[in-house]
Amino acid sequence: METMTTFAPGDGLKTEKMPGHWVLARLGKRVLRPGGMQLTRRMLSALGIQYEDDVVEFAPGMGVTARLTLELSPASYTAVERDEAAAKIVSGYLNGRRQQCVVGNASDTGLPDQCATVVYGEAMLTMQIEEIKRQIVREAYRLLKSRGRYGIHEMCLMSDNLDADAKSETERALTGVVHHGVRPLAISEWRSLLESEGFEVQSVDTAAMSLLEPGRLIRDEGLAGAMRFVWNLLRDSPARRRVLEMRSVFRRCRKQLGAVAITCSKY
Ligand SMILES: C[S@@+](CC[C@H](N)C(=O)[O-])C[C@H]1O[C@@H](n2cnc3c(N)ncnc32)[C@H](O)[C@@H]1O
Repeated sequence: METMTTFAPGDGLKTEKMPGHWVLARLGKRVLRPGGMQLTRRMLSALGIQYEDDVVEFAPGMGVTARLTLELSPASYTAVERDEAAAKIVSGYLNGRRQQCVVGNASDTGLPDQCATVVYGEAMLTMQIEEIKRQIVREAYRLLKSRGRYGIHEMCLMSDNLDADAKSETERALTGVVHHGVRPLAISEWRSLLESEGFEVQSVDTAAMSLLEPGRLIRDEGLAGAMRFVWNLLRDSPARRRVLEMRSVFRRCRKQLGAVAITCSKY
């Protein structure tokens, strides 16, 4: 498989076993969140990042949102990324003492209390079990100063009333093709999680979960990026199989699944 950078997340893993987001990244896909760039832009706009803000991003992945944030010239930018290769890619976009990407866990960053005015993370809570989701939200709260803002952009279940069997069947189908836990919550459950950790919800915005649909691919990656992705896909049959399997399950579950961006404040 062609790698676009010196450091490729998923190195050392077989394509058949690799988490789906790294299969996509190795094919050249940069945008790995369910609601795409449009929902990201709306989340950033709701967060209202200004030059005086100290921003912490959890799990920047390939650094696409990091670059949008840096264009806003915040006072500081710190990313916390678990994957070493991804952290190296993100570090390549940073310069200056007040921009850094540390390899670490968003549930326990080691950053000081109240060091941030804005924290956000995309497509990183859905993949955690319930207790770790809560620890990460709690960590965001600890990092934020009073009146600080937190934004999430995650996969969601479109119904509040999905019965337990349907919910676990959806999780099982998604986890089976992504090869990593995929545990979306209903929008009301995402809200409750944030509120139960002390946040006040400010905005809720949704989009379709069409990560692997052609129109979204072009909107997110640009025409050249989408063509490069398809070219890489055509030349790599194990990766193609993985992507088609994921798309087929996303399509099968499309009525149940969506993407949500929620912003909230610490008071
Ligand atoms: C699906 S990708 C999303 C990447 C990027 N946020 C995006 O939306 O394009 C998930 C990312 O979360 C990172 N990640 C998962 N759990 C994490 C944790 N507990 N702490 C820090 N990073 C984490 C992974 O390494 C990966 O970069």
